[in-house]
Amino acid sequence: MVNVAILGFGTVGSGVAEVLTTNGGLIDRRAADLVRLKYILDVRDFPDSPYSGCFVKDFSVIENDPEVDIVVETIGGASVALDFTVRALKAGKSVVSSNKELVATHGYDLLQLARQHGVNYLFEASVGGGIPILRPLVSCLAANELSQVTGILNGTTNYILTRMIKAGLTFDQALKEAQDNGYAERDPSADVDGHDACRKICILAALAFGEQVYPRQVPTQGIRQVTLADVAYADSCGYKIKLLGRCLRREDGKVCAFVAPHLVPGDNPLAGVEDVFNAIAVTGNAIGDVMFYGRGAGKLPTASAVVADVIDIAKDLKKDRRNQWGPGAEDLVVSGDVLSSRWYVRVNAPLPKARELFGELQALARGGAPDGEIAFLTQAMTEPELRARLAGLELCSLLRVLD
Ligand code: NDP
Ligand code: HSE
Repeated sequence: MVNVAILGFGTVGSGVAEVLTTNGGLIDRRAADLVRLKYILDVRDFPDSPYSGCFVKDFSVIENDPEVDIVVETIGGASVALDFTVRALKAGKSVVSSNKELVATHGYDLLQLARQHGVNYLFEASVGGGIPILRPLVSCLAANELSQVTGILNGTTNYILTRMIKAGLTFDQALKEAQDNGYAERDPSADVDGHDACRKICILAALAFGEQVYPRQVPTQGIRQVTLADVAYADSCGYKIKLLGRCLRREDGKVCAFVAPHLVPGDNPLAGVEDVFNAIAVTGNAIGDVMFYGRGAGKLPTASAVVADVIDIAKDLKKDRRNQWGPGAEDLVVSGDVLSSRWYVRVNAPLPKARELFGELQALARGGAPDGEIAFLTQAMTEPELRARLAGLELCSLLRVLD
């Protein structure tokens, strides 16, 4: 018998309990053992829950129960979740987590700690919600030297952009829907300002390139400044605006990582990823390009990934899954400034002035544009080069093109 304790009975935690119950028979068969939910820890009471007999309020009950083999951490954040994770690992229990903030900031230390105590720390659900991505990255693509990962990594922002464009909702209405659906972070600015996507690209970079990449090292921009005017200009030339997390390994061994909204060409599969769906494109030297797609947030899709980790551990409690990475370094990560690409620019300026500054450019048009506003696509250049040319102009919007 393998006993499981869930910490945090919110969107994901309650989904984990539901999947463990609904699919109990097949989970037992696939784990080749009986997987039982023994405890649920939450600060609130759930007297009407079908699991009411499982609830506890004191973590030490779980910590000190030798029958508990696997602790599922779905509280979120990097304070109490860190404390409970450290204590669970030290008590010889494997930990499964959906908490990308914790993995992105403390992953190296927690993986070391798990190894020291002969247990595992798995976090498939921390990136891409229900999409199988982390295990495929380290096992199915193990034969490859990976060179880049590009992803739509945040379901909430992709949902907001899609609903604003397709249903004409305001930003606030679309965000409210995402919250009602259980997609958004407790503080939705983590979604909207790109921090959630940043945490996820850090985890992907660590697994792809073998060294911890910390969120503070990754320049991050969200979707607040993206307007429907930008969407219309992008549409006019066959592009979609998507928030992307990107990491690339350079020839000199440095990792270039950043999060920003991009213009994605309509024929790139990422352009068609809508609503809460996420997609992650990976490039390896043997496989070429491969893409992973699915629901990036939500109760049951995320629980699917969490329970898969539980089953994996339950099959062999003491097996070392060897998902380690190095501690990282201050000078490991470089910003997107080094990366040359085309750019989308919206400015208040005469078009001849833009042509004088940029030479060849692709002018864009939209209905209802105010007098004096122009938008265009530049030729490939780095951001510092672009900003130098734009100096003195009244800039409205600047977005990188995914070439
Ligand atoms: P919720 O806020 O819905 O759930 C967290 C739960 O933990 C709440 O019930 C909360 O109670 C409880 N909690 C808070 N503090 C404590 C504590 N000290 N002890 C015990 N329980 C506590 O969050 P989600 O389920 O949405 O997210 C959980 C984690 O999973 C986060 O790291 C999130 O980023 C991640 N994640 C979320 C996804 C999603 O689609 N929602 C998808 C993938 C990952 P209370 O509400 O009373 O504070
Ligand atoms: N808030 C996150 C998102 C949850 O919208 O993608 C999934 O990690």
